[in-house]
Amino acid sequence: MPKERSAFVCQNCGYSSLRWMGRCPDCGSWNTLVEERQEPKRRASSGRAVAGREEGPVPIDSVEGDAGDRLSSGVPELDRVLGGGIVRGSLVLVGGDPGVGKSTLLLQAASAVACQGTRVLYVSGEESAAQTKMRAQRIGALSPNLLVSAETDVAEIERHLSAHAPALAIVDSIQTMHISELESSPGSVTQVRESAARFLGLAKGLGISVFLVGHMTKSGSIAGPRVLEHIVDTVLYFEGEGSSSYRILRAIKNRFGSTNEIGVFEMGEKGLEGVTNPSAMFLDGRPEGVSGSAVAACSEGTRPVLVEVQALVTRSTLGMPRRMAQGLDNNRLSLLLAVLEKRAGLELGTYDVYLKIAGGLRVSEPGIDLPVAVAVASAFLEKTVNARTVLFGEVGLGGEIRATPRVEERLTEALRMGFDRCVTAQAGRKRTKHAEGGITLVPVRDIRSALVEALDRTPS
Ligand code: TYD
Ligand code: MG
Repeated sequence: MPKERSAFVCQNCGYSSLRWMGRCPDCGSWNTLVEERQEPKRRASSGRAVAGREEGPVPIDSVEGDAGDRLSSGVPELDRVLGGGIVRGSLVLVGGDPGVGKSTLLLQAASAVACQGTRVLYVSGEESAAQTKMRAQRIGALSPNLLVSAETDVAEIERHLSAHAPALAIVDSIQTMHISELESSPGSVTQVRESAARFLGLAKGLGISVFLVGHMTKSGSIAGPRVLEHIVDTVLYFEGEGSSSYRILRAIKNRFGSTNEIGVFEMGEKGLEGVTNPSAMFLDGRPEGVSGSAVAACSEGTRPVLVEVQALVTRSTLGMPRRMAQGLDNNRLSLLLAVLEKRAGLELGTYDVYLKIAGGLRVSEPGIDLPVAVAVASAFLEKTVNARTVLFGEVGLGGEIRATPRVEERLTEALRMGFDRCVTAQAGRKRTKHAEGGITLVPVRDIRSALVEALDRTPS
């Protein structure tokens, strides 16, 4: 019998150390090192034994299967984020805060797939089969092809999967799964990592698409999801603001598609419903004739989305003024404030600046720069932006406005939403078409002229 060892494992990133430390030297998080038994015996991970591995190298064009081998989840917004449906044999991690709707989303997808006549196994480690049924009844998801099991032992689930050969399996959640040979408790990094590796082996070996639910926060602080990100093919993050019924699904990692696509849902009485017109949703309730508000034509993946950028600028009572952004990277805001100060002469140094993307969307594409700068200037100068003007463009450190991709799509969406004027970068070719189509383009070279064009002449 080999000697038992224990080590301190970071619950955030999986870093392992023989002695306890207050701060993980790998990921830098505090108080995340927890003592776990190490397993000197055979490693439980059969996960890496991907089917076909023992056959040795083969010519790439003779390898079976292709990325076109996808199954529709029956939830169009989920298909979009996955890159056009569920890839056969893929392992997908769906993360998000508790209560955001992960179980609901996956049960809906499971049921939609089952209704197409394909067998699906829904493993619930958190709720009993009866509770899962109640939820299924609520969202109208009862189908004889949908099998449920309230199992947490990975070996048992392995048996179910071999016996019933479903095309899709949902494991809700990975934190409740355990491998009995391992001594550490369910939810520990070792259990989570080894269970996920086993599911990876099953997915690849049996050609079953497996969705793992993982509770995690954006910083990835609970029970080792960072470790999981490396194991799985795709990581989806489901997010929503506490008070709002809107939910956004985005891909953080995707081996089979882009990570730019977002799916927008609304949580209702009968589960989640896809939002086909997100722009209308994000612009809903927009105040008109108020300074500090600008509409941005963003491009999230292949889809254009209009959002309202709101800014509030107040005189600071602190030595170091506050700069706070919601839905936008804070550093990005600081950079744009510096450009406004240096290149447009706005003396923001003694003012607090608050910025928010209304509706809870997080935007990281460069086209948001110009609307953010204009919203801040609008708040500072107390001049409004015309309610039917939309903006997009990247702002350079020299104060220049640079072109961003997908001009046509953004303009078409703006036009569809009733906007008739667009302030954007000078560069670009296909401009005239839209000027004729009812939207007047106002090309600008730098931030100074952008402010002149975007802001109304008189203070609000
Ligand atoms: P759930 O899917 O259990 O969240 P998670 O698995 O991410 O923890 O969703 C929980 C919330 O969703 C709960 O607060 C109730 C709400 N909900 C609805 O509003 N409508 C519905 O049809 C369902 C099933 C849940
Ligand atoms: Mg759940």
